[in-house]
Amino acid sequence: MKIIITGGAGFIGGNFCHYMVKKYPEDQMICIDKLTYAGNMETLAPVLDKDNFTFYKADISDREAIDEIFQKEQPDIIVNFAAESHVDRSILDPEVFLRTNIIGTGVMLDACRKYGIKRYHQVSTDEVYGDLPLDRPDLFFTEETPIHTSSPYSASKASADLLVQAYARTYKLPCTISRCSNNYGPYHFPEKFIPLTIANVLNDKKIPVYGKGENVRDWLYVEDHCRAIDLIIRKGREGEVYNIGGHNERTNLEVVKTVLKELGKGEDFISYVTDRPGHDMRYAIDPTKIHKELGWLPETTFDEGIKRTVKWYLENREWWEHIISGDYQNYYDTMYKNRG
Ligand code: NAD
Ligand code: TYD
Repeated sequence: MKIIITGGAGFIGGNFCHYMVKKYPEDQMICIDKLTYAGNMETLAPVLDKDNFTFYKADISDREAIDEIFQKEQPDIIVNFAAESHVDRSILDPEVFLRTNIIGTGVMLDACRKYGIKRYHQVSTDEVYGDLPLDRPDLFFTEETPIHTSSPYSASKASADLLVQAYARTYKLPCTISRCSNNYGPYHFPEKFIPLTIANVLNDKKIPVYGKGENVRDWLYVEDHCRAIDLIIRKGREGEVYNIGGHNERTNLEVVKTVLKELGKGEDFISYVTDRPGHDMRYAIDPTKIHKELGWLPETTFDEGIKRTVKWYLENREWWEHIISGDYQNYYDTMYKNRG
C-alpha cells in the first residue's frame, strides 16, 4: 500500500509519519510538504532514512507538481494534513489560507479523480462548527452540527470540507473527513498556545493570555489523533465525517496553570493581553460516533500528555530554539507588539 501524507513536516502530519512508518513497515509512506515557515525537516529526522519513507518538497496547490508525483507513485491512500493552520495568522493575512486550504485541497482531489485512489482522507477541524457558549456545558459538536465558521482559517477549512463532500457525491470519490479538537504534544510549532507557553517560560518570558483566559478548548494528545486517522482510513465508512476528541475541556487559564505547575513555576508568568478578534468561546467534541463505529477512545489523559509534552520540550530545546530564532521572531514581534 502506498500512502501519501501531505503536510508531513508539520506538527500532526510529522507525528503521523512517525506513527505510520513504524507501525506499517510493509507500506510505503510518501510525504509531500512545501516546507513553509511551519514545516521543518528536523521533524522528519526520525524517519528520513527509513526504507518505507519518501519525501517530496512540493506545494499542494501546484497542479503540475502534484500530477507528476501521482503519476510516478500511483498512491492508494491520501491523507491531507497540509494547511495553513494558525487562526491569528489568518486574521493578519487570509489569502494564503484560501490558496493552500481550499485550492490545494481541490488540486489533491482532482489528482485523485485522475489517477484513481482507494481513499482520500481530509484532516479537518472542530473549528468548522464555530463555537459553543460557556454557559451551556451540556452542548457538544456532533457530526450533524451545522457548519458555522468564525475566522478566515476555519472558513477555509470548512470550504475544503464542502469540496471533499462534493467530490464524494458527484464523482463518487471514496472520501472520509475527520474533525478533531485542539492537539498538543511533541513537534508542536511554538506559535500555538501550549508550546508557546512552555517556550516562553523556559526563556523567562511572560505568557500572553488573550482576554480573561476563560475560553475553553478540548485538548487531545497528538498520538491519539494519529491513531484515530489510521482507524478511519482503514475501517471508516466512505463518505462519512468522524469527530475526534476526548472530553478534555480546559479553560486557557487552566491549561497555563497546569503547564506552570509541571515546570515548577508560579502564576506571575501570566500576562493578560488584548483578546483575539472574533475569539471562539468554547469547543467541545462528542466522539460517540468514532467510539461506537471504530472503537476509538483517547488513551492519554491531559495531565499525562502535558507531562510528556513538557519533558519533550525540555529534552529537545534545539528543535524549538532553532525555530524561534528565525523568521518566527518577526511574526512574534508583529503579533504581540500592540497587545499590552
Ligand atoms: P502545521 O501548521 O504544524 O503544519 C502544516 C504543514 O503543512 C507544514 O509542514 C507546512 O509546511 C505544510 N504546508 C503548508 N502549506 C502547504 C502547501 N501549500 N503545500 C504543501 N505543504 C504545505 O499544522 P498542524 O497543526 O500539524 O495541522 C495539520 C492539519 O490538521 C491541518 O489541516 C489542520 O487544519 C488540522 N488540525 C489541526 C489541529 C491542531 O490542533 N493543530 C486540530 C484539528 C485539525
Ligand atoms: P491556538 O493554539 O492558537 O489554537 P486555536 O485558536 O486554533 O484554538 O489557541 C488556543 C487558545 O489559546 C485559544 O483560545 C487562543 C488562546 N491563546 C492565548 O490566549 N494566547 C496566545 O498567545 C495564543 C497563541 C493563543
